[in-house]
Amino acid sequence: MFKNYYNKVSYVYDIFSPKIYYHGARNAAVSSLDLEEGQTVLNIPVGTGQNLAYLQRYLHDTGQIIGVDLSEGMLSKAFQKISTHNYSDGTLQNMDVADLNAAWLTKYQTENPDRHIDAILCDLGLSGFDGWEQVIENLLTILKPGGKLVVMDWELKEPSLRGELVKWIGGGEVERPIPAYLQNRLASYEIDHSFNRGGVFVASGVKHIGMES
Ligand SMILES: C[S@@+](CC[C@H](N)C(=O)[O-])C[C@H]1O[C@@H](n2cnc3c(N)ncnc32)[C@H](O)[C@@H]1O
Repeated sequence: MFKNYYNKVSYVYDIFSPKIYYHGARNAAVSSLDLEEGQTVLNIPVGTGQNLAYLQRYLHDTGQIIGVDLSEGMLSKAFQKISTHNYSDGTLQNMDVADLNAAWLTKYQTENPDRHIDAILCDLGLSGFDGWEQVIENLLTILKPGGKLVVMDWELKEPSLRGELVKWIGGGEVERPIPAYLQNRLASYEIDHSFNRGGVFVASGVKHIGMES
């Protein structure tokens, strides 16, 4: 359902969801990743690649950005941004987030020896993904111990017209208790719920060192 919907929406996504709309939240989310040059960051769902320019402010084309999305249409827009800006460290994978798991990590590390998933940015994804709790668990499996997981998404606790509009446009569910779940699973948990008039949060934390990757 999401795949077909976003294939159609991909042509107008950057017009109806312009960079300025989530600028404050994206800026804070990418800053919270604590990226250093040469590191690998996973961005899910990468969509049309609106985060790429933000990520490059920290990586300066020295690391690896892996963008994952189910929609070929959205990925083709992200690919255009990679080509236009000559980002040599941007790679895209057309897949379901549900398949980002231990088997995916084994394949990634076979193809990229000595590389780890240093940080993960999940923006405007968990409110829409089926089985979102399991997606978080899978992300914690592939993230290196001590790595940063940053989530940017909607959370509106009270029913509102705005909530209905966000659901209608993006297909997500704005009342999911994503922050509460993350708080239980991450060390050094922090949240800022002040974006987009209090509707959008940026939550971040570190994978517990004891957890396997
Ligand atoms: C609201 S857009 C957000 C895109 C981007 N993160 C942003 O902030 O602009 C939601 C994206 O989730 C993708 N998506 C939905 N379900 C997915 C799944 N199961 N696996 C991978 N991507 C998925 C859609 O194709 C779409 O690009």
